[in-house]
Formats: sequence, structure tokens, C-alpha cells
Amino acid sequence: MTKAYERLLSCFRSFEEKIQFRPKVALVLGSGLGDYADSIRAEAVLDYHELEGFPVSTVSGHKGRFVFGYVNEIPVVIMQGRVHYYEGYSMEDVVLPIRLMKLMGAEILFLTNAAGGVNFDFQAGDFMMITDQIASFVPSPLIGPNIEELGERFCDMSQIYDRGLCQAIRDAAEELGIALKEGTYIQLTGPNFESPMEVKMCRILGGDAVGMSTACEAVAANHMGMRICGISCISNLGCGMTDQPLSHVEVKETADRVAPQFKQLITSAITRMGKEL
Ligand code: HPA
Repeated sequence: MTKAYERLLSCFRSFEEKIQFRPKVALVLGSGLGDYADSIRAEAVLDYHELEGFPVSTVSGHKGRFVFGYVNEIPVVIMQGRVHYYEGYSMEDVVLPIRLMKLMGAEILFLTNAAGGVNFDFQAGDFMMITDQIASFVPSPLIGPNIEELGERFCDMSQIYDRGLCQAIRDAAEELGIALKEGTYIQLTGPNFESPMEVKMCRILGGDAVGMSTACEAVAANHMGMRICGISCISNLGCGMTDQPLSHVEVKETADRVAPQFKQLITSAITRMGKEL
């Protein structure tokens, strides 16, 4: 058994001692989007620091806890705050929570984030459903001895974002009258925002939105055979696309502004996904 798996199991055992709840859907909330967890019927809460060996996030706007509860009768676990590679954690740390949620029972992983738009058709406040990703600028979380118990060494990545789940998000957006963009998410390490030339590079490579999370989590989840979907909240346009400098305050302000619509979209999409479980 690998060290990474041993550590994961010890985290899982410490979860099992505290929480009986078994989720079917795992939802990760991005910067400024964490309020969603306060709107669900919660059954239990578990702070990350209560779990032995669990990485704890340091970013402001990220709370750092699991919320267990129901979205229209569907049992969910919500990560209110994630850990980022730029905080200095290893990739193994960064994806440990994702792996843990799979062990908890989650079959579906719903990823959200705040991201910069690099596509000129986007504007701040848009939602972009992620249809594919570029994770090549960050180390793969699968580097190191393969965790055979979770998945195979050379895993296929031909359809990371599940077609059925994507359709559920499209249908939800349409029913709610919420405009939904679609595109490719590209992950860079951060924590600095991109230079104008890096934003241009992302666009030339085929990226539509750029951020500092998500893609590596999707790699780890794909390795374990989870069904994955994701939405980026476009909190700003990439550096150099407008005259304004970027700030984390702006990222949070935009997320706050679109939060009501975001909540509706997530709730409706999860409800639809629940029918497939
Ligand atoms: N770049 C990278 N990550 C981000 C951005 C951005 O412009 N906005 C929010 N997260």
C-alpha cells in the first residue's frame, strides 16, 4: 500500500468516527461562492482541522470545512473552501479532499471556481460550464507510485467532463433563463494573476477561462472513475483584456453579485443529476 493511500485511509477513518452521513454528490465551492453551503438543509459540519493529516486552506474567502446535507433529497457533501497548489501544498495534499469524498461515497464531483475569462466573448459575471481542460502547466496529482486501490496508472482522459452531467447543467440553465457559456478551463499555478501575454497564450492554446484550481482535482477524480462536471464563474476578464488591474477583491465582489443565480443553477443541476443516481 502506498504512503498516500495510507494517509487517505487514516483521514477516512477519522471522518467515519465523526460522521455517519454518506453523500452521493460532492460539490466544491470556489472563491466567493462558499455561501451556497449555508442555503442547504445541513445535517452535519466537519472542519478540515478536525481531520488528522488533512491540509487546511489559508486563502481569505475560503472557510475550510465539509458541510453534509441535502439538496432536494439528494445527499451531498460540500467543500466550503479548497486547498490550492500555490499555498505551498503538494499535489497529493491538494487532491486528498477529492479522494476522501470519493471514499465517503460520492459518485459525482461538481467543481466550481472563480476564473478569469480569456475568451473575448465573455464578460465578468458570466457562467462557463467546463467542457474540457488544460492541466499541463501544473504537475499531475498522479505522479508518484500509482494508488492501485483508486485507479489505473495510465488513465484515459478522453471525456473528463461527463456528457450527461453537462446536459443536466444546460437544461437547468435553460429552464432558469440563465445564460450559460461553455469552454475549456486552463489551470496555471498562480498565485499571481497572469501577465497580458500569458492571457494571450491561454487563448491561443484554446483556453476560455483561466484559474488556479479545478483541473488537477478533475484529474484525480477521473483517475478514480468519478463522473465530473464543473462551472466557472467568470469573475473578471484576463489581465490586458481591459484597462483595469485585477484584484482578489474584484473576484469576490463579482462572485457575490452573481451568487443568487449561481445558487439556483447549482440546485437545479444537482436535482436533475440526482435522477440519474
Ligand atoms: N486568473 C487566474 N485565476 C483567477 C482569475 C484570473 O484572472 N480570476 C479569478 N481567478
